[in-house]
Amino acid sequence: MSAVEQLGYLVFEVSDLAAWERFATGVLGLVVAEREDDGALLLRNDERAWRIRVEPGPADDLAALGWQVADDEAMDAVVARLKAAGCPVEPASPEQAATRRVARLVRYRDLNGVPSELFCGAAMASSPFESDLVASGFVAGELGMGHCVVRAPDKAATQRFYEDVLGLRLSDHITCEIFGFPVDLAFMHANARHHSVAFGGELDKNIHHFMLEVRHLDDVGLAYDRAIRARLPIANTLGRHPNDGMVSFYAHTPSGFQFEFGWGGVEVDDATWQPTTHGRISDWGHHPPVRLQPRRKKSPADSGETGP
Ligand code: FE2
Repeated sequence: MSAVEQLGYLVFEVSDLAAWERFATGVLGLVVAEREDDGALLLRNDERAWRIRVEPGPADDLAALGWQVADDEAMDAVVARLKAAGCPVEPASPEQAATRRVARLVRYRDLNGVPSELFCGAAMASSPFESDLVASGFVAGELGMGHCVVRAPDKAATQRFYEDVLGLRLSDHITCEIFGFPVDLAFMHANARHHSVAFGGELDKNIHHFMLEVRHLDDVGLAYDRAIRARLPIANTLGRHPNDGMVSFYAHTPSGFQFEFGWGGVEVDDATWQPTTHGRISDWGHHPPVRLQPRRKKSPADSGETGP
């Protein structure tokens, strides 16, 4: 079955473009590839012409999730399956495809309304990727730009959609409770990256977080330092997930949804991989920010003392 090959790009509509540029270049270590006439920024994390597009608008949300297919034939096959699944597919104009720097583009929404695109023929950058802040570089290329966690009120139906229509494969589930709240997530892969997309539950936005992976653990620690110095709200401290093995932290983007910055994700071999269900979200760490707060100094009123 023709399947999507990788998560090619993400497009975010953001209300504070200047804050996003400071965040993307100064915390994440991405590189600005181009600026569009409408103010949109194209950002790189590898040899592709771009991987994240940040465009001005009020939504502060994921505006498009771009799936790469190999060629016209693969695109035709996936489009046919989308239509058979009842998803309206909108062919893009050559101008819209040029905006994405791809040869061919179609748009659709997944069964939960998450704005999505299929493309083939992505342009490469004219210069090698180099980030002053992320010396080791990002794990991207054939594995795609990273991963994304999207809204999916019906996990089982969403899993069937991504399996049957896009051709993704199940990696595993995580089913547990966090602070008394049930968590039930499915993780799906398109290539050797453990997951390109995960989902399981309703969200206020289309996206919960996107993930970027670096090649050296120190580059996670350095990004953690930069996030703290930039006073980004930390959502989860450093920790390791049991399923993809990623050592990562989570913080909030200027748009309110989160990013994960990690290292050490396992790769999946479809010939031998057996999907399982994990009973916890983290082997260690990933604590919420309250754990970071220093103990309040006792005031004289607390001890009954009247002070010096
Ligand atoms: Fe993640």
